Amino acid sequence: MNKNKLKSTIMDSMVLTGIGLAGFYWVCESFMYFFLAPEANFFQHVLGPDIFQTWTRLLVLCLFVIFGSHVQYTVNKRRAADDALRDSEEKYRTILENIEEGYFETDLEGNLTFFSDPFCKILGYPRSQLLGMNTRKYTTPATAEKIIRKTARLKKTGRPENVTDYDIIRKNGTNVALELSLSLLNDQNGQPMGYRGMLRDVSDRKRTEDEKHKLENQLQQAQKMESIGTLAGGIAHDFNNILMGIQGNASLMLLKIDSDHPNYEKVKNVEKYVQNGTELTKQLLGFARRGKYLIKATDLNEIIDKSSALFARTRKEIQVHTDLSDELWTVEVDRGQIEQVLLNLYVNAWQAMSEGGSLYLITKNAILDGNYIKAYKVEPGKYVKFTVSDTGEGIDKETQKRIFEPFFTTKEMGRGTGLGLASVYGIIKSHGGYINVYSEKDRGTTFTIFLPASGKEVAKEKGAATAMIKGSGNVLLIDDEEMVVDVGRELLQELGYSVMPALSGREAIDIFRTNQGKIDLIIMDMIMPGMGGGETFDRLRKIDPEIKVLLSSGYSIDGQATKILQRGCNGFIQKPFKLNQLAEKIQKIMENR
Ligand SMILES: Nc1ncnc2c1ncn2[C@@H]1O[C@H](COP(=O)(O)OP(=O)(O)OP(=O)(O)O)[C@@H](O)[C@H]1O
Ligand SMILES: [Mg+2]
Repeated sequence: MNKNKLKSTIMDSMVLTGIGLAGFYWVCESFMYFFLAPEANFFQHVLGPDIFQTWTRLLVLCLFVIFGSHVQYTVNKRRAADDALRDSEEKYRTILENIEEGYFETDLEGNLTFFSDPFCKILGYPRSQLLGMNTRKYTTPATAEKIIRKTARLKKTGRPENVTDYDIIRKNGTNVALELSLSLLNDQNGQPMGYRGMLRDVSDRKRTEDEKHKLENQLQQAQKMESIGTLAGGIAHDFNNILMGIQGNASLMLLKIDSDHPNYEKVKNVEKYVQNGTELTKQLLGFARRGKYLIKATDLNEIIDKSSALFARTRKEIQVHTDLSDELWTVEVDRGQIEQVLLNLYVNAWQAMSEGGSLYLITKNAILDGNYIKAYKVEPGKYVKFTVSDTGEGIDKETQKRIFEPFFTTKEMGRGTGLGLASVYGIIKSHGGYINVYSEKDRGTTFTIFLPASGKEVAKEKGAATAMIKGSGNVLLIDDEEMVVDVGRELLQELGYSVMPALSGREAIDIFRTNQGKIDLIIMDMIMPGMGGGETFDRLRKIDPEIKVLLSSGYSIDGQATKILQRGCNGFIQKPFKLNQLAEKIQKIMENR
Protein backbone atom coordinates (compact mmCIF):
# COMPACT_ATOMS: atom_id res chain seq x y z
CA MET A 1 0.00 0.00 0.00
CA ASN A 2 2.76 2.41 1.08
CA LYS A 3 4.90 1.38 -1.84
CA ASN A 4 2.11 2.18 -4.28
CA LYS A 5 1.53 5.54 -2.68
CA LEU A 6 5.19 6.35 -2.95
CA LYS A 7 5.25 5.27 -6.56
CA SER A 8 2.28 7.41 -7.50
CA THR A 9 3.85 10.38 -5.69
CA ILE A 10 7.03 9.92 -7.71
CA MET A 11 4.93 9.52 -10.85
CA ASP A 12 3.14 12.72 -9.98
CA SER A 13 6.39 14.44 -9.18
CA MET A 14 7.81 13.66 -12.64
CA VAL A 15 4.69 15.22 -14.24
CA LEU A 16 5.01 18.03 -11.73
CA THR A 17 8.69 18.36 -12.72
CA GLY A 18 7.49 18.71 -16.34
CA ILE A 19 4.97 21.34 -15.30
CA GLY A 20 7.67 23.03 -13.18
CA LEU A 21 10.11 23.03 -16.12
CA ALA A 22 7.35 24.45 -18.38
CA GLY A 23 6.70 27.18 -15.74
CA PHE A 24 10.43 27.87 -15.63
CA TYR A 25 10.44 28.18 -19.42
CA TRP A 26 7.43 30.52 -19.10
CA VAL A 27 9.33 32.78 -16.69
CA CYS A 28 12.55 32.63 -18.77
CA GLU A 29 10.67 33.57 -21.94
CA SER A 30 8.93 36.42 -20.07
CA PHE A 31 12.41 37.66 -19.08
CA MET A 32 13.57 37.36 -22.69
CA TYR A 33 10.60 39.44 -23.97
CA PHE A 34 11.00 41.86 -21.13
CA PHE A 35 14.60 42.51 -22.26
CA LEU A 36 13.63 42.65 -25.95
CA ALA A 37 10.60 44.91 -25.36
CA PRO A 38 11.09 46.80 -22.11
CA GLU A 39 8.08 49.08 -22.79
CA ALA A 40 5.90 46.53 -20.96
CA ASN A 41 6.88 45.56 -17.44
CA PHE A 42 7.96 42.06 -16.51
CA PHE A 43 4.65 40.98 -14.92
CA GLN A 44 2.78 41.99 -18.07
CA HIS A 45 5.05 39.59 -20.00
CA VAL A 46 4.35 36.87 -17.44
CA LEU A 47 0.64 37.33 -17.16
CA GLY A 48 -0.43 38.80 -20.47
CA PRO A 49 1.71 37.55 -23.36
CA ASP A 50 0.48 37.80 -26.87
CA ILE A 51 -1.36 34.90 -28.41
CA PHE A 52 1.76 33.51 -30.18
CA GLN A 53 3.71 33.42 -26.92
CA THR A 54 0.78 31.80 -25.12
CA TRP A 55 0.65 29.03 -27.71
CA THR A 56 4.39 28.34 -27.66
CA ARG A 57 4.37 28.30 -23.85
CA LEU A 58 1.40 25.94 -23.73
CA LEU A 59 3.08 23.73 -26.33
CA VAL A 60 6.27 23.62 -24.29
CA LEU A 61 4.20 22.84 -21.22
CA CYS A 62 2.50 19.96 -23.04
CA LEU A 63 5.83 18.66 -24.34
CA PHE A 64 7.38 18.77 -20.88
CA VAL A 65 4.41 16.97 -19.34
CA ILE A 66 4.41 14.31 -22.06
CA PHE A 67 8.19 13.93 -21.84
CA GLY A 68 8.06 13.85 -18.04
CA SER A 69 5.42 11.18 -17.91
CA HIS A 70 7.24 9.11 -20.54
CA VAL A 71 10.44 9.28 -18.57
CA GLN A 72 8.50 8.42 -15.45
CA TYR A 73 6.87 5.46 -17.16
CA THR A 74 10.21 4.10 -18.40
CA VAL A 75 11.89 4.58 -15.05
CA ASN A 76 9.01 2.85 -13.25
CA LYS A 77 9.07 -0.07 -15.62
CA ARG A 78 12.79 -0.58 -15.19
CA ARG A 79 12.49 -0.26 -11.46
CA ALA A 80 9.68 -2.82 -11.38
CA ALA A 81 11.80 -5.20 -13.45
CA ASP A 82 14.74 -4.64 -11.09
CA ASP A 83 12.49 -5.27 -8.08
CA ALA A 84 11.12 -8.44 -9.64
CA LEU A 85 14.64 -9.63 -10.42
CA ARG A 86 15.79 -8.89 -6.89
CA ASP A 87 12.72 -10.63 -5.46
CA SER A 88 13.24 -13.69 -7.58
CA GLU A 89 16.96 -13.79 -6.78
CA GLU A 90 16.12 -13.50 -3.11
CA LYS A 91 13.55 -16.27 -3.47
CA TYR A 92 15.99 -18.64 -5.19
CA ARG A 93 18.73 -17.83 -2.73
CA THR A 94 16.37 -18.60 0.17
CA ILE A 95 15.35 -21.85 -1.51
CA LEU A 96 18.95 -22.84 -2.20
CA GLU A 97 20.05 -22.06 1.32
CA ASN A 98 17.10 -23.73 2.98
CA ILE A 99 16.85 -27.04 1.15
CA GLU A 100 18.98 -29.90 2.41
CA GLU A 101 20.41 -30.56 -1.03
CA GLY A 102 23.63 -28.84 -1.95
CA TYR A 103 23.61 -26.83 -5.21
CA PHE A 104 26.77 -26.11 -7.16
CA GLU A 105 28.00 -24.93 -10.53
CA THR A 106 31.33 -25.67 -12.16
CA ASP A 107 33.13 -24.72 -15.35
CA LEU A 108 33.78 -27.35 -17.98
CA GLU A 109 36.94 -28.49 -16.16
CA GLY A 110 34.99 -29.15 -12.98
CA ASN A 111 36.23 -26.13 -10.97
CA LEU A 112 33.57 -24.83 -8.61
CA THR A 113 32.23 -21.41 -9.62
CA PHE A 114 29.15 -21.16 -7.45
CA PHE A 115 27.59 -23.19 -4.62
CA SER A 116 25.09 -22.96 -1.79
CA ASP A 117 25.77 -23.09 1.94
CA PRO A 118 24.26 -26.60 2.34
CA PHE A 119 26.78 -27.74 -0.28
CA CYS A 120 29.62 -26.53 1.96
CA LYS A 121 27.97 -28.25 4.90
CA ILE A 122 27.65 -31.59 3.12
CA LEU A 123 31.31 -31.46 2.09
CA GLY A 124 32.48 -30.14 5.43
CA TYR A 125 34.68 -27.46 3.81
CA PRO A 126 34.53 -23.70 4.50
CA ARG A 127 33.21 -21.58 1.59
CA SER A 128 36.55 -19.83 1.11
CA GLN A 129 38.36 -23.12 0.43
CA LEU A 130 35.79 -24.47 -1.97
CA LEU A 131 35.69 -21.61 -4.44
CA GLY A 132 37.69 -22.65 -7.49
CA MET A 133 38.36 -26.15 -6.09
CA ASN A 134 38.11 -28.99 -8.58
CA THR A 135 35.41 -31.55 -7.80
CA ARG A 136 37.98 -34.34 -8.18
CA LYS A 137 39.67 -33.08 -5.02
CA TYR A 138 36.82 -34.32 -2.82
CA THR A 139 35.53 -37.36 -4.76
CA THR A 140 36.90 -40.89 -4.52
CA PRO A 141 38.87 -42.07 -7.58
CA ALA A 142 36.06 -44.45 -8.59
CA THR A 143 33.48 -41.64 -8.41
CA ALA A 144 35.78 -39.27 -10.34
CA GLU A 145 35.98 -41.87 -13.13
CA LYS A 146 32.21 -42.24 -13.09
CA ILE A 147 31.79 -38.47 -13.38
CA ILE A 148 34.12 -38.29 -16.39
CA ARG A 149 31.88 -40.83 -18.16
CA LYS A 150 28.67 -39.09 -17.13
CA THR A 151 29.77 -35.58 -18.13
CA ALA A 152 30.94 -36.85 -21.52
CA ARG A 153 27.50 -38.32 -22.10
CA LEU A 154 25.82 -35.20 -20.76
CA LYS A 155 27.75 -33.02 -23.20
CA LYS A 156 26.76 -35.30 -26.05
CA THR A 157 23.06 -35.70 -25.29
CA GLY A 158 22.32 -32.61 -23.21
CA ARG A 159 20.06 -34.75 -21.03
CA PRO A 160 20.48 -34.52 -17.22
CA GLU A 161 22.29 -37.44 -15.56
CA ASN A 162 21.69 -39.09 -12.21
CA VAL A 163 24.66 -40.40 -10.27
CA THR A 164 23.91 -42.81 -7.44
CA ASP A 165 26.75 -43.77 -5.11
CA TYR A 166 28.51 -40.44 -5.58
CA ASP A 167 31.18 -41.09 -2.96
CA ILE A 168 32.93 -38.09 -1.52
CA ILE A 169 35.64 -37.64 1.07
CA ARG A 170 34.81 -34.91 3.54
CA LYS A 171 37.42 -32.51 4.82
CA ASN A 172 37.73 -34.54 8.03
CA GLY A 173 38.51 -37.65 5.98
CA THR A 174 35.20 -39.47 6.43
CA ASN A 175 33.53 -41.03 3.42
CA VAL A 176 29.91 -40.47 2.58
CA ALA A 177 27.74 -41.85 -0.20
CA LEU A 178 25.61 -39.19 -1.90
CA GLU A 179 23.29 -38.91 -4.85
CA LEU A 180 23.90 -36.34 -7.58
CA SER A 181 21.74 -34.89 -10.36
CA LEU A 182 23.91 -33.27 -12.99
CA SER A 183 22.90 -31.02 -15.89
CA LEU A 184 24.57 -28.79 -18.45
CA LEU A 185 25.07 -25.05 -17.96
CA ASN A 186 24.84 -23.12 -21.25
CA ASP A 187 25.94 -19.57 -22.11
CA GLN A 188 23.73 -17.02 -23.90
CA ASN A 189 24.56 -18.57 -27.26
CA GLY A 190 23.50 -22.00 -26.11
CA GLN A 191 27.08 -23.24 -25.89
CA PRO A 192 28.03 -25.43 -22.87
CA MET A 193 29.96 -23.39 -20.34
CA GLY A 194 29.88 -25.73 -17.35
CA TYR A 195 27.78 -28.03 -15.18
CA ARG A 196 25.29 -27.58 -12.42
CA GLY A 197 24.54 -30.22 -9.85
CA MET A 198 22.30 -31.02 -6.94
CA LEU A 199 23.85 -33.15 -4.16
CA ARG A 200 21.70 -35.20 -1.82
CA ASP A 201 22.86 -36.87 1.37
CA VAL A 202 20.90 -40.12 1.22
CA SER A 203 22.61 -41.96 4.07
CA ASP A 204 19.60 -41.49 6.40
CA ARG A 205 17.16 -42.63 3.74
CA LYS A 206 19.43 -45.55 2.89
CA ARG A 207 19.67 -46.51 6.52
CA THR A 208 15.88 -46.46 6.95
CA GLU A 209 15.42 -48.38 3.72
CA ASP A 210 18.03 -50.93 4.78
CA GLU A 211 16.34 -51.28 8.15
CA LYS A 212 12.94 -51.69 6.52
CA HIS A 213 14.38 -54.22 4.13
CA LYS A 214 15.96 -56.11 6.99
CA LEU A 215 12.72 -56.16 8.99
CA GLU A 216 10.76 -57.33 5.96
CA ASN A 217 13.32 -60.06 5.41
CA GLN A 218 13.18 -61.10 9.04
CA LEU A 219 9.39 -61.21 8.93
CA GLN A 220 9.42 -63.21 5.73
CA GLN A 221 12.03 -65.53 7.18
CA ALA A 222 9.98 -65.96 10.35
CA GLN A 223 6.83 -66.68 8.33
CA LYS A 224 8.72 -69.14 6.15
CA MET A 225 10.13 -70.87 9.21
CA GLU A 226 6.68 -70.93 10.82
CA SER A 227 5.05 -72.59 7.81
CA ILE A 228 7.90 -75.06 7.26
CA GLY A 229 7.71 -75.73 11.01
CA THR A 230 4.00 -76.55 10.81
CA LEU A 231 4.65 -78.75 7.81
CA ALA A 232 7.58 -80.47 9.51
CA GLY A 233 5.53 -81.03 12.67
CA GLY A 234 2.68 -82.55 10.67
CA ILE A 235 5.02 -84.87 8.79
CA ALA A 236 6.70 -85.91 12.02
CA HIS A 237 3.32 -86.77 13.55
CA ASP A 238 2.15 -88.98 10.68
CA PHE A 239 5.57 -90.49 10.31
CA ASN A 240 5.81 -91.38 13.97
CA ASN A 241 2.48 -93.22 13.77
CA ILE A 242 3.73 -95.21 10.77
CA LEU A 243 7.00 -95.93 12.55
CA MET A 244 4.99 -97.01 15.60
CA GLY A 245 3.19 -99.56 13.42
CA ILE A 246 6.46 -100.91 12.01
CA GLN A 247 8.24 -100.87 15.38
CA GLY A 248 5.30 -102.60 17.10
CA ASN A 249 5.14 -105.36 14.53
CA ALA A 250 8.91 -105.83 14.63
CA SER A 251 8.80 -106.06 18.42
CA LEU A 252 6.03 -108.65 18.23
CA MET A 253 7.91 -110.68 15.62
CA LEU A 254 11.06 -110.64 17.72
CA LEU A 255 9.06 -112.06 20.62
CA LYS A 256 8.01 -115.03 18.53
CA ILE A 257 11.36 -115.94 16.98
CA ASP A 258 14.67 -117.10 18.43
CA SER A 259 17.94 -115.36 17.75
CA ASP A 260 19.05 -118.21 15.44
CA HIS A 261 15.99 -117.80 13.21
CA PRO A 262 17.06 -116.87 9.63
CA ASN A 263 14.92 -113.71 9.77
CA TYR A 264 15.98 -112.62 13.24
CA GLU A 265 18.76 -110.31 11.99
CA LYS A 266 16.47 -108.87 9.33
CA VAL A 267 13.80 -107.96 11.87
CA LYS A 268 16.55 -106.49 14.07
CA ASN A 269 17.57 -104.41 11.03
CA VAL A 270 13.99 -103.23 10.65
CA GLU A 271 14.18 -101.99 14.25
CA LYS A 272 17.47 -100.25 13.45
CA TYR A 273 15.98 -98.47 10.44
CA VAL A 274 12.94 -97.48 12.47
CA GLN A 275 15.43 -95.99 14.92
CA ASN A 276 17.02 -93.97 12.07
CA GLY A 277 13.56 -92.78 11.03
CA THR A 278 12.88 -91.79 14.62
CA GLU A 279 16.08 -89.71 14.69
CA LEU A 280 14.85 -87.87 11.62
CA THR A 281 11.41 -87.15 13.08
CA LYS A 282 13.11 -86.00 16.28
CA GLN A 283 15.11 -83.46 14.25
CA LEU A 284 11.91 -82.35 12.53
CA LEU A 285 10.12 -81.97 15.86
CA GLY A 286 13.06 -80.06 17.30
CA PHE A 287 13.08 -77.67 14.38
CA ALA A 288 9.28 -77.26 14.59
CA ARG A 289 9.79 -76.31 18.26
CA ARG A 290 7.75 -79.32 19.30
CA GLY A 291 8.75 -82.40 21.17
CA LYS A 292 9.62 -80.62 24.42
CA TYR A 293 7.64 -82.85 26.78
CA LEU A 294 9.51 -83.86 29.88
CA ILE A 295 10.98 -80.76 31.47
CA LYS A 296 13.16 -81.36 34.48
CA ALA A 297 15.59 -79.21 36.45
CA THR A 298 18.90 -80.46 35.12
CA ASP A 299 22.63 -80.07 35.62
CA LEU A 300 23.86 -79.32 32.09
CA ASN A 301 27.39 -80.38 33.05
CA GLU A 302 26.14 -83.90 33.71
CA ILE A 303 24.63 -84.26 30.23
CA ILE A 304 27.76 -82.76 28.63
CA ASP A 305 30.03 -85.07 30.64
CA LYS A 306 28.14 -88.20 29.67
CA SER A 307 27.57 -87.35 26.02
CA SER A 308 31.08 -86.03 25.38
CA ALA A 309 32.70 -89.08 27.00
CA LEU A 310 30.68 -91.35 24.73
CA PHE A 311 31.55 -89.18 21.74
CA ALA A 312 35.27 -89.14 22.57
CA ARG A 313 35.26 -92.94 22.88
CA THR A 314 33.80 -93.42 19.41
CA ARG A 315 35.79 -90.67 17.63
CA LYS A 316 39.38 -91.27 18.67
CA GLU A 317 40.80 -88.73 16.18
CA ILE A 318 39.15 -85.92 18.14
CA GLN A 319 40.50 -84.64 21.44
CA VAL A 320 37.72 -83.46 23.70
CA HIS A 321 38.66 -80.79 26.29
CA THR A 322 36.09 -79.77 28.87
CA ASP A 323 36.06 -76.79 31.20
CA LEU A 324 32.80 -77.06 33.13
CA SER A 325 31.98 -74.59 35.88
CA ASP A 326 31.62 -76.20 39.34
CA GLU A 327 28.88 -73.87 40.48
CA LEU A 328 26.76 -74.08 37.36
CA TRP A 329 23.13 -73.07 37.82
CA THR A 330 20.51 -75.65 36.91
CA VAL A 331 18.42 -75.39 33.75
CA GLU A 332 14.87 -76.63 33.16
CA VAL A 333 15.04 -78.68 30.01
CA ASP A 334 13.81 -81.72 28.17
CA ARG A 335 16.95 -83.80 28.62
CA GLY A 336 16.36 -85.87 25.50
CA GLN A 337 16.18 -82.73 23.41
CA ILE A 338 19.30 -81.19 24.92
CA GLU A 339 21.18 -84.44 24.26
CA GLN A 340 20.01 -84.12 20.68
CA VAL A 341 21.41 -80.56 20.54
CA LEU A 342 24.79 -81.69 21.86
CA LEU A 343 24.99 -84.64 19.54
CA ASN A 344 24.23 -82.46 16.51
CA LEU A 345 26.95 -79.99 17.49
CA TYR A 346 29.53 -82.74 18.18
CA VAL A 347 28.79 -84.49 14.88
CA ASN A 348 29.08 -81.25 12.93
CA ALA A 349 32.39 -80.47 14.62
CA TRP A 350 33.68 -83.96 13.89
CA GLN A 351 32.63 -83.68 10.24
CA ALA A 352 34.43 -80.32 10.01
CA MET A 353 37.67 -81.87 11.34
CA SER A 354 38.31 -84.61 8.81
CA GLU A 355 42.00 -84.64 9.73
CA GLY A 356 41.25 -84.73 13.45
CA GLY A 357 41.40 -81.82 15.87
CA SER A 358 40.19 -80.52 19.20
CA LEU A 359 36.73 -79.98 20.58
CA TYR A 360 36.38 -77.55 23.50
CA LEU A 361 33.30 -77.66 25.72
CA ILE A 362 32.94 -74.84 28.24
CA THR A 363 30.11 -74.01 30.63
CA LYS A 364 29.74 -70.85 32.70
CA ASN A 365 27.10 -68.87 34.56
CA ALA A 366 26.14 -65.64 32.85
CA ILE A 367 23.95 -62.67 33.69
CA LEU A 368 22.57 -61.09 30.56
CA ASP A 369 21.64 -57.45 30.57
CA GLY A 370 21.65 -54.35 28.36
CA ASN A 371 23.87 -55.11 25.37
CA TYR A 372 23.29 -58.84 25.37
CA ILE A 373 19.54 -58.49 25.37
CA LYS A 374 19.69 -56.31 22.28
CA ALA A 375 22.16 -58.55 20.51
CA TYR A 376 20.57 -61.87 21.41
CA LYS A 377 16.91 -60.81 21.77
CA VAL A 378 16.42 -62.63 25.06
CA GLU A 379 14.91 -61.68 28.40
CA PRO A 380 17.38 -60.18 30.88
CA GLY A 381 18.42 -62.41 33.76
CA LYS A 382 20.48 -65.43 34.76
CA TYR A 383 21.64 -67.80 32.05
CA VAL A 384 23.84 -70.81 31.67
CA LYS A 385 26.33 -70.25 28.87
CA PHE A 386 27.66 -73.21 26.96
CA THR A 387 30.24 -72.98 24.18
CA VAL A 388 31.29 -75.67 21.73
CA SER A 389 34.44 -74.82 19.76
CA ASP A 390 36.22 -76.87 17.16
CA THR A 391 39.45 -76.43 15.23
CA GLY A 392 37.86 -77.49 11.95
CA GLU A 393 37.41 -75.98 8.53
CA GLY A 394 35.28 -73.05 9.71
CA ILE A 395 32.30 -71.48 7.97
CA ASP A 396 32.50 -68.49 5.63
CA LYS A 397 30.31 -65.43 6.25
CA GLU A 398 27.82 -66.19 3.46
CA THR A 399 27.24 -69.76 4.66
CA GLN A 400 26.92 -68.59 8.26
CA LYS A 401 23.77 -66.69 7.32
CA ARG A 402 22.07 -69.90 6.26
CA ILE A 403 23.29 -72.67 8.57
CA PHE A 404 20.20 -72.60 10.81
CA GLU A 405 17.83 -72.92 7.86
CA PRO A 406 16.13 -76.31 7.62
CA PHE A 407 17.51 -78.51 4.85
CA PHE A 408 20.53 -76.26 4.30
CA THR A 409 23.62 -78.41 3.97
CA THR A 410 26.99 -78.14 2.28
CA LYS A 411 27.52 -81.88 2.58
CA GLU A 412 27.10 -84.31 -0.25
CA MET A 413 23.88 -86.28 -0.75
CA GLY A 414 23.37 -88.89 1.91
CA ARG A 415 25.86 -87.32 4.35
CA GLY A 416 23.71 -84.48 5.64
CA THR A 417 20.03 -83.62 5.67
CA GLY A 418 20.59 -80.05 6.82
CA LEU A 419 18.26 -80.56 9.75
CA GLY A 420 20.90 -80.71 12.50
CA LEU A 421 21.35 -77.02 13.25
CA ALA A 422 17.72 -76.20 12.36
CA SER A 423 16.61 -78.54 15.14
CA VAL A 424 19.30 -77.20 17.49
CA TYR A 425 18.00 -73.68 16.85
CA GLY A 426 14.34 -74.72 17.34
CA ILE A 427 15.08 -76.60 20.56
CA ILE A 428 17.13 -73.79 22.09
CA LYS A 429 14.44 -71.26 21.13
CA SER A 430 11.66 -73.38 22.58
CA HIS A 431 13.66 -73.48 25.83
CA GLY A 432 13.74 -69.66 25.91
CA GLY A 433 17.44 -69.58 25.02
CA TYR A 434 19.65 -68.31 22.25
CA ILE A 435 22.33 -69.76 19.98
CA ASN A 436 24.97 -67.85 18.17
CA VAL A 437 27.83 -68.77 15.85
CA TYR A 438 31.31 -67.34 15.42
CA SER A 439 33.58 -68.76 12.78
CA GLU A 440 36.53 -67.94 10.57
CA LYS A 441 37.38 -69.93 7.49
CA ASP A 442 40.05 -72.57 8.24
CA ARG A 443 40.26 -71.37 11.86
CA GLY A 444 37.39 -73.32 13.42
CA THR A 445 33.90 -72.62 14.69
CA THR A 446 32.37 -71.67 18.02
CA PHE A 447 28.70 -72.10 18.86
CA THR A 448 27.54 -70.28 21.98
CA ILE A 449 24.30 -71.28 23.66
CA PHE A 450 22.48 -69.45 26.44
CA LEU A 451 19.80 -71.30 28.40
CA PRO A 452 17.74 -69.59 31.11
CA ALA A 453 18.89 -70.66 34.57
CA SER A 454 16.47 -72.13 37.08
CA GLY A 455 16.61 -71.95 40.87
CA LYS A 456 15.34 -75.51 41.22
CA GLU A 457 17.20 -78.53 42.57
CA VAL A 458 18.32 -81.12 40.02
CA ALA A 459 15.59 -83.76 39.56
CA LYS A 460 16.92 -87.31 39.92
CA GLU A 461 16.73 -89.51 36.82
CA LYS A 462 15.30 -92.96 37.53
CA GLY A 463 17.40 -95.76 36.11
CA ALA A 464 16.24 -97.26 32.82
CA ALA A 465 14.73 -100.71 32.91
CA THR A 466 16.97 -103.42 31.66
CA ALA A 467 14.62 -106.39 31.51
CA MET A 468 11.10 -106.46 30.15
CA ILE A 469 8.66 -106.40 33.03
CA LYS A 470 5.36 -108.16 32.52
CA GLY A 471 2.23 -107.16 34.39
CA SER A 472 -1.50 -107.66 34.58
CA GLY A 473 -4.70 -105.61 34.58
CA ASN A 474 -7.08 -103.87 32.21
CA VAL A 475 -5.82 -101.15 29.90
CA LEU A 476 -8.04 -98.74 27.96
CA LEU A 477 -6.07 -97.87 24.79
CA ILE A 478 -7.21 -94.69 22.98
CA ASP A 479 -5.81 -93.71 19.56
CA ASP A 480 -7.51 -92.50 16.38
CA GLU A 481 -5.02 -94.48 14.24
CA GLU A 482 -6.28 -98.02 13.78
CA MET A 483 -2.77 -99.28 13.00
CA VAL A 484 -1.49 -97.93 16.31
CA VAL A 485 -4.43 -99.41 18.21
CA ASP A 486 -3.92 -102.82 16.60
CA VAL A 487 -0.22 -103.03 17.26
CA GLY A 488 -0.59 -101.42 20.69
CA ARG A 489 -3.20 -103.97 21.69
CA GLU A 490 -0.93 -106.87 20.73
CA LEU A 491 2.06 -105.34 22.49
CA LEU A 492 0.08 -104.85 25.68
CA GLN A 493 -1.32 -108.35 25.48
CA GLU A 494 2.22 -109.66 25.17
CA LEU A 495 3.03 -107.80 28.37
CA GLY A 496 0.16 -109.58 30.09
CA TYR A 497 -2.51 -106.87 30.07
CA SER A 498 -6.06 -107.17 28.69
CA VAL A 499 -6.93 -104.35 26.35
CA MET A 500 -10.05 -102.35 25.56
CA PRO A 501 -9.46 -100.33 22.43
CA ALA A 502 -11.16 -96.99 21.63
CA LEU A 503 -10.77 -95.03 18.38
CA SER A 504 -11.89 -91.65 19.76
CA GLY A 505 -12.14 -89.69 22.97
CA ARG A 506 -15.94 -89.98 22.99
CA GLU A 507 -15.86 -93.79 22.56
CA ALA A 508 -13.28 -94.01 25.34
CA ILE A 509 -15.48 -92.10 27.77
CA ASP A 510 -18.43 -94.42 27.02
CA ILE A 511 -16.26 -97.52 27.56
CA PHE A 512 -14.79 -96.04 30.73
CA ARG A 513 -18.24 -95.23 32.15
CA THR A 514 -19.65 -98.70 31.50
CA ASN A 515 -16.53 -100.41 32.87
CA GLN A 516 -16.01 -98.17 35.87
CA GLY A 517 -13.77 -99.69 38.52
CA LYS A 518 -12.50 -102.37 36.14
CA ILE A 519 -9.91 -100.29 34.26
CA ASP A 520 -6.43 -99.99 35.81
CA LEU A 521 -4.69 -97.80 33.25
CA ILE A 522 -5.49 -95.59 30.30
CA ILE A 523 -2.99 -95.12 27.45
CA MET A 524 -4.06 -92.15 25.41
CA ASP A 525 -3.02 -90.38 22.22
CA MET A 526 -2.85 -86.62 22.38
CA ILE A 527 -3.81 -85.41 18.91
CA MET A 528 -7.20 -86.79 17.90
CA PRO A 529 -9.90 -85.36 15.71
CA GLY A 530 -13.03 -84.20 17.58
CA MET A 531 -12.31 -84.49 21.28
CA GLY A 532 -8.53 -84.03 21.69
CA GLY A 533 -6.29 -85.60 24.32
CA GLY A 534 -6.57 -82.65 26.71
CA GLU A 535 -10.35 -82.66 26.89
CA THR A 536 -10.59 -86.48 27.02
CA PHE A 537 -8.12 -86.48 29.92
CA ASP A 538 -10.15 -83.89 31.86
CA ARG A 539 -13.42 -85.78 31.34
CA LEU A 540 -11.96 -89.14 32.34
CA ARG A 541 -10.48 -87.60 35.48
CA LYS A 542 -13.85 -86.10 36.28
CA ILE A 543 -15.40 -89.57 36.24
CA ASP A 544 -12.52 -91.04 38.26
CA PRO A 545 -9.97 -88.58 39.71
CA GLU A 546 -7.64 -91.46 40.68
CA ILE A 547 -7.37 -93.12 37.27
CA LYS A 548 -3.81 -93.57 35.97
CA VAL A 549 -3.15 -92.11 32.53
CA LEU A 550 -0.12 -92.58 30.27
CA LEU A 551 0.07 -90.05 27.47
CA SER A 552 1.54 -91.19 24.16
CA SER A 553 2.21 -89.01 21.19
CA GLY A 554 4.20 -88.56 18.04
CA TYR A 555 3.79 -84.83 18.17
CA SER A 556 2.51 -82.10 20.43
CA ILE A 557 1.03 -78.72 19.80
CA ASP A 558 3.03 -76.11 21.68
CA GLY A 559 3.43 -77.51 25.15
CA GLN A 560 0.08 -79.35 25.12
CA ALA A 561 1.69 -82.49 26.47
CA THR A 562 3.43 -80.48 29.17
CA LYS A 563 0.12 -78.92 30.18
CA ILE A 564 -1.61 -82.30 30.48
CA LEU A 565 1.35 -83.61 32.46
CA GLN A 566 1.10 -80.61 34.76
CA ARG A 567 -2.59 -81.38 35.31
CA GLY A 568 -1.56 -84.67 36.88
CA CYS A 569 -1.17 -87.07 33.98
CA ASN A 570 1.05 -89.92 35.21
CA GLY A 571 3.53 -90.29 32.38
CA PHE A 572 4.49 -89.71 28.78
CA ILE A 573 5.83 -91.98 26.07
CA GLN A 574 7.02 -90.77 22.70
CA LYS A 575 5.95 -92.76 19.63
CA PRO A 576 7.39 -94.91 18.19
CA PHE A 577 8.32 -96.94 21.29
CA LYS A 578 9.80 -100.37 21.79
CA LEU A 579 8.13 -103.07 23.83
CA ASN A 580 10.53 -102.76 26.77
CA GLN A 581 10.13 -98.97 26.87
CA LEU A 582 6.36 -99.41 27.10
CA ALA A 583 6.74 -102.11 29.73
CA GLU A 584 8.95 -99.89 31.82
CA LYS A 585 6.63 -96.87 31.64
CA ILE A 586 3.58 -98.94 32.60
CA GLN A 587 5.49 -100.58 35.41
CA LYS A 588 6.51 -97.19 36.81
CA ILE A 589 2.92 -95.97 36.84
CA MET A 590 1.37 -99.21 38.09
CA GLU A 591 3.79 -99.73 40.97
CA ASN A 592 2.24 -96.70 42.68
CA ARG A 593 -1.18 -98.36 42.58
N1 LIG B 1 31.27 -77.02 13.27
C1 LIG B 1 31.09 -76.73 11.98
N2 LIG B 1 32.16 -76.43 11.20
C2 LIG B 1 32.00 -76.14 9.89
N3 LIG B 1 30.80 -76.09 9.27
C3 LIG B 1 29.70 -76.35 9.99
C4 LIG B 1 29.78 -76.69 11.38
N4 LIG B 1 28.53 -76.89 11.83
C5 LIG B 1 27.70 -76.71 10.78
N5 LIG B 1 28.40 -76.40 9.67
C6 LIG B 1 27.83 -76.07 8.35
O1 LIG B 1 26.45 -75.87 8.50
C7 LIG B 1 25.72 -76.70 7.62
C8 LIG B 1 24.40 -77.07 8.25
O2 LIG B 1 24.61 -77.90 9.38
P1 LIG B 1 23.48 -78.88 9.84
O3 LIG B 1 23.95 -79.62 11.02
O4 LIG B 1 22.21 -78.13 9.94
O5 LIG B 1 23.30 -79.84 8.61
P2 LIG B 1 24.29 -80.99 8.12
O6 LIG B 1 25.31 -81.28 9.17
O7 LIG B 1 24.78 -80.60 6.79
O8 LIG B 1 23.28 -82.19 8.00
P3 LIG B 1 22.68 -83.07 9.20
O9 LIG B 1 23.09 -82.43 10.47
O10 LIG B 1 21.21 -83.02 9.00
O11 LIG B 1 23.26 -84.40 9.01
C9 LIG B 1 26.63 -77.85 7.34
O12 LIG B 1 26.34 -78.46 6.08
C10 LIG B 1 28.01 -77.20 7.36
O13 LIG B 1 28.28 -76.58 6.13
MG1 LIG C 1 24.78 -81.64 11.17
